[in-house]
Amino acid sequence: MDTVLSGIRSTGHLHLGNYFGALRNFVNIQDKYNCFFFIADLHSLTTHPKPEDFHASVRIILSEYLAAGLDPEKSAIFVQSSVPEISELYVLLNMLSYKGELERTASFKDKVRKNPENVNAGLLTYPVLMAADILAHRANWVPVGRDQEQHLEIARVLARRFNNFYGADVFPEPQALRFGSDLVKVPGLDGSGKMGKSEGNGIYLYDDEKTIHRKVMKAVTDAGPAVPDSEMPEPVKNIFTLLELVSEPSTVEFFKEKYRNCSIRYGDLKKQLAADICRLTLPIRERIDDIYNNDDYLRQVTRAGTERARASASATLKEVRKAVGFREF
Ligand code: TRP
Repeated sequence: MDTVLSGIRSTGHLHLGNYFGALRNFVNIQDKYNCFFFIADLHSLTTHPKPEDFHASVRIILSEYLAAGLDPEKSAIFVQSSVPEISELYVLLNMLSYKGELERTASFKDKVRKNPENVNAGLLTYPVLMAADILAHRANWVPVGRDQEQHLEIARVLARRFNNFYGADVFPEPQALRFGSDLVKVPGLDGSGKMGKSEGNGIYLYDDEKTIHRKVMKAVTDAGPAVPDSEMPEPVKNIFTLLELVSEPSTVEFFKEKYRNCSIRYGDLKKQLAADICRLTLPIRERIDDIYNNDDYLRQVTRAGTERARASASATLKEVRKAVGFREF
């Protein structure tokens, strides 16, 4: 069985864009692959989060993934910093990573532009740590969005370079795993662009019913009434895209027909959308609370996940150390 691995950044709550873009797909592949899912807490240190908030943010994201259907019986679910083998591999891969190539990474240049006061070495070597995550488990497949493709390419380069440099066939080259629904760009509620973290644009799995209704009713739709045979305006298209994700096909068709014959009332459309989002997310929200407050369960899940991850990574590191030339006396 092939191995799939994905790291999850531990910043903030998950929104519907995260759910439909990644999480739902992770849930669905757990029977087909040997899966490793982890919270990338080491990566998040590049932005210097406060120690007093650090654990809570890991706990939130872990609870949300579990509530949405990541299954610890099937997948290894763990926190990156609990697997020291990753850090060891990171050190070794750093020796094969060149300043020039890391500086050319789009994400690095972007961070430098946005935060010129915090250009730390961890930021520069962020893709090396990500390569260590992947290669530690000799993963075959990595689900990545567009923004991570370049990082995955660096992981491939490092796998190849390591194998060549040390004359050992330790690492397979990890490939991007694409889901059909990757093509669905989940739009935000502000009429343009994709769902993100900016205020008023996103709906979170953890939003309560009132919040969801308020956000959806405020969503941008259209300036005037629908015009016969005209192209649907972007904001209205976005509402329909969301509806297609959360509602029954017959519901979508019902409103499309109303749009076509110009009898649509955007208030009704949005009320339906809000109700159908609630139907999807409110049960998840309830489970998030249960899991977040269940110390025993979280301990059990992460212990089992860490054990599996360390077994896999230490088997790799054994070969790596041998290839590099470390010997015991
Ligand atoms: N960099 C990824 C992101 O920002 C998170 C991540 C860390 C990751 N390590 C990884 C993703 C390994 C895939 C594989 O989303």
